[in-house]
Amino acid sequence: MTTVPSDHDEGTVVAARVERRWTILSAGLVGLMIGVALFAGIHRATMPQVWVETANPRTLHVSGEFIESNLGSALEADGSVTVRAVGQQFSFTPQCMLVPADTPITFRATSSDVVHGFLITGTNINGMLVPGYVTALPAKFANPGEYSMPCQEFCGMGHEGMWAKVKVVDKATFSDMAKQNRRLSCVAQ
Ligand code: CUA
Repeated sequence: MTTVPSDHDEGTVVAARVERRWTILSAGLVGLMIGVALFAGIHRATMPQVWVETANPRTLHVSGEFIESNLGSALEADGSVTVRAVGQQFSFTPQCMLVPADTPITFRATSSDVVHGFLITGTNINGMLVPGYVTALPAKFANPGEYSMPCQEFCGMGHEGMWAKVKVVDKATFSDMAKQNRRLSCVAQ
């Protein structure tokens, strides 16, 4: 009598083969995903931003966007507001930024010396002011109110005392004020 491999044995062999292939495939997929996550994380952390705007810290006060007379809040033609600010050891200019509620706002800021932080407490607005570069942060405040803005990057002996304020006023008040002044802030108001 000859022995013929039974269906059972053959089935086991096929099942083992299929299982092995699936194991390799799923392990490969997991490996691939880890690889992609690692690459993306390391790449993002080590490459400069794709989109970079520069501002020479040596000539900030002399010419260009961050000259003192151009700092503060500006009402744009499209109804949005641009706030320009400079951080320096150990203050922000303007020291109090005025913005309207319920309006798209862009903060544009840079540093004239070392790295400072740009953080508006109670919001998700949190950036770094790096000398040589412009930090642009979009924002929108639902209601009038006041927010403090402590520098959150250690920048020297006066770091603890470096902070500013953001004052949010209602839209109508802001637009009335914008008719009087090209650039607004709440310093001395
Ligand atoms: Cu500026 Cu810390």
